[in-house]
Amino acid sequence: MIVTVLYALIFYVATVLFVAGLAVKIVQFARTPAPLKIPTTPAPTTRAGVVVRMGREVVLFESLFRSNKWIWIFGWLFHFGMFLVLARHLRYFTEPVWTWVALIQPFGMYASFAMVGGLIGLWARRVLVDRVRYISAPSDHLMLALLVGIGLSGMSMTFLYHTDIVALKAFFLGLIRFDWGNLTYLPADPLLLLHLLLVATLMVVFPFSKLLHAPGVFFSPTRNQVDNPRERRHLAPWAAQLESGGR
Ligand code: HEM
Repeated sequence: MIVTVLYALIFYVATVLFVAGLAVKIVQFARTPAPLKIPTTPAPTTRAGVVVRMGREVVLFESLFRSNKWIWIFGWLFHFGMFLVLARHLRYFTEPVWTWVALIQPFGMYASFAMVGGLIGLWARRVLVDRVRYISAPSDHLMLALLVGIGLSGMSMTFLYHTDIVALKAFFLGLIRFDWGNLTYLPADPLLLLHLLLVATLMVVFPFSKLLHAPGVFFSPTRNQVDNPRERRHLAPWAAQLESGGR
C-alpha cells in the first residue's frame, strides 16, 4: 500500500515537472531572437521545402549522417528502437488498445535490443575515443546510464522475470483518470519498481538536460529558415523596432 501511494505521488510530481518544465523551455526557445539569416545551404527556398527538410532531419538524422557515420548508426538505432518501444508502451495507458499498437507489439519487444545496443555503442564512444572522453561531462554519462538502466530493467521484465501487466495497467489508468478511490495495488516487483523510478527520474531531468534537443531541433535557425534573403528582407523583431525609431 505504501509503495503504491508513494509511486502514485512520484508519478504525479514527475508529470507536472516534465510538462511544466518542457513548456517553459519551449516558450523560451520560441522567444529567442534569430537575428541573422543562417540556413545551412543548400537549403530549401520555400516553407514546404523546409518542412520536408525538417522531416528528413527528424526521421533520418540527415545532417548527423553527413557528419559522422558511427554516431549516426548508433544514434539512429537507439532512437528508432526507443520510438517502437514507446509506441508499444501505449497499451499500458489506453483502453481499449488501439489496433496499430496491438499490431506492433512484437516489433516493440525486439526493438529494445536496437535501443540498448545503440546506447552501448554511443557510450563506448565516450569511453574509447580519447577526444570524446576528454570532453564528456558527468551528465553525458548519467543520461546514458539512466537510459541503459531503463532499457535493461524493461528487457529483464519482458524476457526474464515477468510482472503483472494487468495490475500495472489498472494502476496507471487509475492515475490518469484521477480515480483514487479504487487505486489498484502496484505489483511490488523490484525490477518494475526500479524501471518506474528510473523513468520518473528521466521525466524530471528531461527539461533541464541535453535531452532537450528533441524539441530544440525544431527551433534551430540553420534548419528551420527558408533560403530567401533576396526575396524577403530578414529583420528580427527587435531590429525592426530600432529601425522604426522605437526603443
Ligand atoms: C510510466 C512509464 C512506463 C511504464 C509503466 C513501463 C512499464 C514497462 C513494463 C511493464 C515492461 C515489461 C513489458 C512486458 O513484460 O511485456 C517494460 C518494458 C520496457 N520498457 Fe518500460 N515503462 C515505462 C516507460 C518506459 C520508458 C520511458 C522507456 C524508454 C526510455 C522504457 C523502456 C522499456 C524497454 C526498452 C522495455 C523492454 C522492451 C519492451 O517490452 O517494450 N519504458 N516497461
